[in-house]
Parts: sequence; structure tokens; C-alpha cells
Amino acid sequence: MDLMEAVRIRKSIRGFKPDPVPQAVIAEILSAALCAPSPVNTQPWEITVVTGKALEALKQANMELLQSGAAADPHAQYGPHTGVYRKRQVDLAIQLFQLMGIRKEDQDRRAGWTALGCRLFDAPAAIIIAVDEAVGEWSALFSVGSIAQTIALAALNYGLGTCIQGQAIAYPEAVRRITGIAASKRLIIGIALGYPDFDFPANRVQADRLSLETAVKWCGSEE
Ligand SMILES: Cc1cc2nc3c(=O)[nH]c(=O)nc-3n(C[C@H](O)[C@H](O)[C@H](O)COP(=O)(O)O)c2cc1C
Repeated sequence: MDLMEAVRIRKSIRGFKPDPVPQAVIAEILSAALCAPSPVNTQPWEITVVTGKALEALKQANMELLQSGAAADPHAQYGPHTGVYRKRQVDLAIQLFQLMGIRKEDQDRRAGWTALGCRLFDAPAAIIIAVDEAVGEWSALFSVGSIAQTIALAALNYGLGTCIQGQAIAYPEAVRRITGIAASKRLIIGIALGYPDFDFPANRVQADRLSLETAVKWCGSEE
């Protein structure tokens, strides 16, 4: 796949076909993604691929914790957002709910959408990325952001879709229990991975983007 095309067409996929993703394909994606940059080449990412019964157990545990009213890890929620950032968050939610036919006041279906997220949108595979506590927070976050996007782009080459997903690690203890990731490792992000179901309405989402003029300041350019 053309690199610029991949950069432009990548988007979050929130509905997957049940088809399993061959382990060899996931290995190729991750082997390429390991070329991602990290501060002073620390490569602090520790990657766990979760499929099959382990993934089913994770989805189930997340659902049970969600339904029990357990508090989700605030790190995996990124908020609260205010001002323009809150507006962008709301704009995304409005678009997703419109596509899914969920009315704002329909608490049951909104809860159902959250539950689907906790089930990693029923993806057949998930990638959990953790970083040792000894690594500084900025370094950890930059490195995992860098490799997460690289995974998302590489996945496109194999017809796969991804959703980089805080919800996947909303309940860290469940993730640790099922995957064996030690308490000394910070869980940074999960990525749902699978073949996109393009009939799933939410996959028609087109999250708004800033214009070049809004996002970029040119300093020292004569033109
Ligand atoms: C760190 C991070 C965490 C995210 N967590 C979630 C999540 O928990 N659930 C979800 O549906 N999308 C999640 N997303 C996807 C964003 O909503 C999405 O990237 C954004 O709306 C832009 O849309 P696009 O990916 O379709 O271009 C996350 C993205 C990032 C980078």
C-alpha cells in the first residue's frame, strides 16, 4: 500500500468480522512496527498479543467490571477535556451516535456502546503495550504513541483495521490477571485489531481534522 494513502485512510475501526488474524500476519506487522522511533532508542515498549480464550476472558472481565460500576483507570480516560477539546470530543460522539442510531437520551443504548468498547469492539485480536516503570513518563508515552500509530499503518497493508483504545486497559488489574503483565509495567494502551466489517455503521465515521492553516505555523518561511 502507498505510504501517503495509508496515512490518509487510516481511521479507527469499531466493528470487526469474526475472522481470526493469522499469527504470522500479526508478527509481520509487529516486526515492521518495531522500527518505530523512541527517545535515545530506548524502545521501551513491551507488547502482548491477546487472542482466543485470553481475549474472551478479557472482554468478559471488562464487561463484568463495567456492569459492577467499578471505577475505570483515570489514565485510560484522558479527560476531563474543556473548551475546544471538549467540543471535538462531543463532535466525535455525536457523529458516532448518529451513525449507530443512538439518541442522546437513550441511556441503555449509550451504555451498550460503552460496553461494546469494553469488549474491544469484538475484535478477534488485541495488542496491549506496556512500559517498565523505570522509564520516564514522557519517554513512555511518546514511544508507545509512535509504535501504536506504526502498528495501525502497517495493519492496513494486510487489509486489517485497528482501534487504538484506552478502553482496552480501563481495568488494569483484569488485564494483568489475564495476560500476566507485571505490576511493575505501566499499561499504556491497547489496540483492537481485526478485519473491518465495513457494513458496521460506526466504521463510516470520519473524525474531523484541523486544516493546515489552523494547525500549522510557518516560521522563517519566505514564501
Ligand atoms: C490514546 C488513544 C486512546 C483512544 N481510546 C479510544 C477508546 O477507548 N475508544 C474508542 O472508541 N476510540 C479510542 N481512540 C480513537 C480516537 O477516538 C480516534 O483516534 C480519534 O477520534 C480520531 O479518529 P480516527 O482514528 O478515526 O482518525 C483512542 C485514540 C488514541 C490515540
